[in-house]
Amino acid sequence: MKKLIDKLYRENYLDEKELLDLLNNINKENKDYLIDKAHQTRMRTYGDKVFMRGLIEFTNYCKMDCVYCGIRASNKNADRYRLTIEEILSACEMGDRLGYKTFVLQGGEDAFYTDDKIVEIIREIKKEFPDTAITLSIGEKSYESYKRYYDAGADRYLLRHETASKELYERLHPKASFENRRECLWNLKKIGYQVGAGFMVGLPGQTNEDYVKDLHFLKELQPHMIGIGPFISHKDTPLAHKENGTLEETVVMLALIRLFLPDVLLPATTALGTIDPLGREKGLKAGGNVVMPNLSPISVREKYSLYNGKICTGDEAAECRKCIEGRITRAGFSIDMSRGDNINWRRK
Ligand code: 5AD
Ligand code: FES
Repeated sequence: MKKLIDKLYRENYLDEKELLDLLNNINKENKDYLIDKAHQTRMRTYGDKVFMRGLIEFTNYCKMDCVYCGIRASNKNADRYRLTIEEILSACEMGDRLGYKTFVLQGGEDAFYTDDKIVEIIREIKKEFPDTAITLSIGEKSYESYKRYYDAGADRYLLRHETASKELYERLHPKASFENRRECLWNLKKIGYQVGAGFMVGLPGQTNEDYVKDLHFLKELQPHMIGIGPFISHKDTPLAHKENGTLEETVVMLALIRLFLPDVLLPATTALGTIDPLGREKGLKAGGNVVMPNLSPISVREKYSLYNGKICTGDEAAECRKCIEGRITRAGFSIDMSRGDNINWRRK
């Protein structure tokens, strides 16, 4: 196993057979070795820096019906909300005062926010905070829509591929197309965004063969950012009683991603912090180099419930900023409040 890990460290690639062999046979000692190699790799690319992004969850209306997700259209128990442009801007102001240079606008697929409205939101934010990066995370749109947002000033786009197994994808996304989602990611790249893809770990029925597909898809796509986290069940979904993904398997995936794509920006996600109190710290030690504290107004925090047990609800953005800063420094890393662009990206 060590030989395979060394090869991955050197070449940033393992073929399907080698990777499956590693996933099927990795033991505790090899895991520590893998995590150590991932840590060395991040130290070589971005050093001990951890980049901060302010997350604004501006709508939990969603027309999609992903079976794992708490804000799926069919969930009649979800208490829906939308933020006004003024509320979004005041969340940005708070973020600006706390030093954030990236705002992530995330929401369900909500037709209320037409392209014109999204463009207006981007323009307003850029007008007030010109040196701040804007990341969108609002789902599948046409090439033309993505292009309009980019031309209005959006810099980055997060669209997890969720799983690279077509069969598993189709089971989890009754209303959606596996091919279209991938097409969206390629379109975003073509337009010039810094693109974020990613998948969930520990989905019901997910296998090591599926993870091989995820890692190989990511290697092919070459996204600038990759968001992964454990699947966490939500009580009002068809997967309410399924087991959650584990910290251990998620950390292994983070380390593998760092080794396959050494330059990627890789968050230690909230979901990871939710299944284990020290989850995010463990994610950072396995190659993670981004955290995304919440800037949404406290009144809507609990409503943006994709999974149960989400941490940090009810915390002031300022408190959260302090808490996460302490966590990062105690874990041996340093906070970086700059825009934190991917080292290979320039706006075109
Ligand atoms: N558990 C873990 N992650 C989830 N997401 C949505 N629902 C869940 C869940 N129950 C993730 C998806 C989505 C991102 C915003 O949150 O991967 O892309
Ligand atoms: Fe948000 Fe600790 S990271 S309160």
